Amino acid sequence: MKSILVTGGAGYIGSHTAVALHNAGFKPVIVDNFSNSEKEVIPKIEQIIKSAVIFYEGDCNDADFMNRVFDEQDIAGVIHFAAYKAVGESTEKPLKYYKNNILSLITLLEVMGNHDCKDVVFSSSCTVYGQPEKLPVKESTPRQDAESPYGNTKKICEDILTDHIKSGADSRIIALRYFNPIGAHPTALIGELPKGVPANLVPFVTQTAAGIRKQLTVFGDNYNTPDGTAIRDYIHVMDLADAHVKAIEFLHQQTPQTFDVFNVGTGNGNSVLEVVKSFEDVTGVNLNYTIGKRRAGDIEQVWADTEKIFSELDWRPKFDLKDALRDAWKWQQTL
Ligand code: NAD
Ligand code: WQD
Repeated sequence: MKSILVTGGAGYIGSHTAVALHNAGFKPVIVDNFSNSEKEVIPKIEQIIKSAVIFYEGDCNDADFMNRVFDEQDIAGVIHFAAYKAVGESTEKPLKYYKNNILSLITLLEVMGNHDCKDVVFSSSCTVYGQPEKLPVKESTPRQDAESPYGNTKKICEDILTDHIKSGADSRIIALRYFNPIGAHPTALIGELPKGVPANLVPFVTQTAAGIRKQLTVFGDNYNTPDGTAIRDYIHVMDLADAHVKAIEFLHQQTPQTFDVFNVGTGNGNSVLEVVKSFEDVTGVNLNYTIGKRRAGDIEQVWADTEKIFSELDWRPKFDLKDALRDAWKWQQTL
């Protein structure tokens, strides 16, 4: 059974990916410093997969620690989730974001080099596209200047990976550009744990439905879209998790010195009001919402062209928006 290191594996996407890796016959080895997650996530993963998980508490920026993990485990590949991700906070504390998100990648690549570990899947984001002129957006679309230091870390990390391969490193690398991950594991044992007031739409919706927030504000209804609200490509987190498994399996078959990027979305765009209506339909809960101003930095609409990931990684989403909202609500009710 091949061991796959999952940095940030106690986090939202990492925890679901650890489950998906196990289900596909891999052994996940989790590294996390719990800066944005809880230790209780580990036993929940174990409950889902019905077996023990190897896990190390530590910081990916700590080369000694990371070398120890690689010395102790026979790591066949890495999925690198560990990063800070709050867009708003990154504009207030850019150095915190540049330091953690960039240094952790560089440290990881150096440690992998020390241990002759070639394969890495990196968490990138559709944020690198900004507002594309043509939709759906293809991987070949030029990236735009980032709207936030957070977004810039994703661009810079993609550039670091490109230069690493150009320099002759015999690594095999995929950057997955996620669209908007939502939902939770269908058992509702793991899910998203936003700290404080959620910035993202779906946690805000579920917390409003649960009575934790009074009202959802829809940020703008005067966009150039059919109902005036902004459009995104919402993807179930378990589908996103499966895309990582496909990426790791694909990398194992490639010749060294490759770097490639793939969109991970459903290929469908949904407006904020469509999300609200779908949530009401699947849960039977009436959502208290109001229309407010546009949020600074938001783009109008984006959804993925999925042709490349469908054909090259043979991956397809299995869940739709309603499934994801149902699972997000089920998870919220356990909190
Ligand atoms: P998350 O915050 O839930 O998970 C990240 C995990 O990494 C957390 O458990 C945190 O404690 C850990 N971590 C952070 N820095 C660390 C370090 N230096 N050493 C060890 N552990 C560290 O976030 P997520 O939503 O699961 O996102 C995972 C990755 O996907 C991130 O790189 C994020 O930027 C990227 N991404 C997320 C989204 C999204 O909407 N959630 C979209 C696109 C890309
Ligand atoms: C979705 C839509 C909001 C909250 C962010 C990051 C991006 C990526 C994913 C990591 C937008 C609207 C939201 C609310 C609302 N993360 N909304 N009321 O903005 O697409 O992307 O997360 O890489 O980098 O920027 O996701 O969930 O915040 O918003 O009307 O209270 O919901 O305006 O149209 P977004 P989101």
